[in-house]
Amino acid sequence: MKYIIVAGARPNFMKVAPIMEAFRVRGQKQILLVHTGQHYDEKMSDNFFADLEIPRPNLNLEVGSGSHAQQTARVMTAFEDICIEHRPDWVVVVGDVNSTLACALAAKKLGIRVAHVEAGLRSRDMSMPEEINRLCTDAISDLLFTTDKMADENLQREGINKERIRFVGNTMIDTLLRNIDKALSMPLPTEFKAREYAVLTLHRPSNVDSKPKLTALFEVLIDISRLIPIVFPAHPRTRNNLHQFGLEDTIHDSQINVIAPLSYLPFIGLTARSRLVFTDSGGIQEETTVLGIPCITMRPNTERPITCTMGTNILVGSEPERIRTAVLATLNASPRKNMLPEKWDGNAAMRIVDVLLADPAVLSEPTQENTPPQKWNGDTDVQIVEVVLNEHSVSS
Ligand code: UD1
Repeated sequence: MKYIIVAGARPNFMKVAPIMEAFRVRGQKQILLVHTGQHYDEKMSDNFFADLEIPRPNLNLEVGSGSHAQQTARVMTAFEDICIEHRPDWVVVVGDVNSTLACALAAKKLGIRVAHVEAGLRSRDMSMPEEINRLCTDAISDLLFTTDKMADENLQREGINKERIRFVGNTMIDTLLRNIDKALSMPLPTEFKAREYAVLTLHRPSNVDSKPKLTALFEVLIDISRLIPIVFPAHPRTRNNLHQFGLEDTIHDSQINVIAPLSYLPFIGLTARSRLVFTDSGGIQEETTVLGIPCITMRPNTERPITCTMGTNILVGSEPERIRTAVLATLNASPRKNMLPEKWDGNAAMRIVDVLLADPAVLSEPTQENTPPQKWNGDTDVQIVEVVLNEHSVSS
């Protein structure tokens, strides 16, 4: 059997690392690692391969940036050639970026079986490009590996045969657990002491591409930085927009310390010793849940509701007053107790590889869709919550 594993953008690298390692442990040699080149900077890509000791990709498609259609089309065209040349039995894609969907589509149309790692997550927000990527990738994948049981339910509600779904746990958490000691040995930026700073990440187009929205967000974050200084490893998209919207000088004069994007180990080291995190990322909601660090998510919804119900995550949207209230509540409260979601135990990649190596014959047949799709009632599983000052719990 021959497998192609695809990685394209920053949040993919920590998901493929343990899968590559699990294949190595099981003695499987017929593996090609393909990097689509969606992310190409040293800071957004190469440093992650070094930190996570991922073997150098066998092939780099070097597609770079572009509009969604351009990027997706470039990956599809280049990846189709790779599939024709190498004829893998399986293509394994992870996450929800443009490269995930593009490679799944190209492979599937050539009759190659596709496995999707991190399947079934749903924000119900079709304005997010990632939600479109998730839905379309799941619809055509032969095997769907999920991180929690809510994802299994989402998939079955969409009519996907449960034989195609395997609840295996979370490969991003495999990587976190494997690297936490190394991450904690990374130095903090000199001016910061453990638990006396907050970390900010912000890059969703819905937050950073509009001048009024980004300005309003930074107004409140600058205010908050007077209470607790903020370290902000800025994504290239956000840094460009801060420059274009003329916000750089105001931020420079504040207690927000803008730094270059960090690679994996320094970022986890910084996050694990922070007092709280502000983010609009998906993966960081999961990492903070495991680390027990309060996470204030500046989005109206999440595809990872388990981080709110079991973890440390609070959804606040992008309303300045909600953000301010959540921060005050967090700073005044003793830390919320987090619980570890089932199977977030460091062994997800091994479970995935064991399923793939068993190569379930049943999946080579066209799947009988036996579950009629149920109507979705329009409610997200987790709504924005009102945060009540000085209380640990939140009410909706
Ligand atoms: C992509 C993913 C998003 C993920 C994010 C993590 C999609 C639809 N989005 O969004 O899910 O959370 O990555 O970072 O796939 N750029 C660089 N250097 C790079 C990569 C990008 O400077 O190495 C610049 C690009 O030129 C572009 C901007 O950053 O201007 C955005 O990059 P792009 O890959 O289009 O989307 P992300 O916002 O990074």
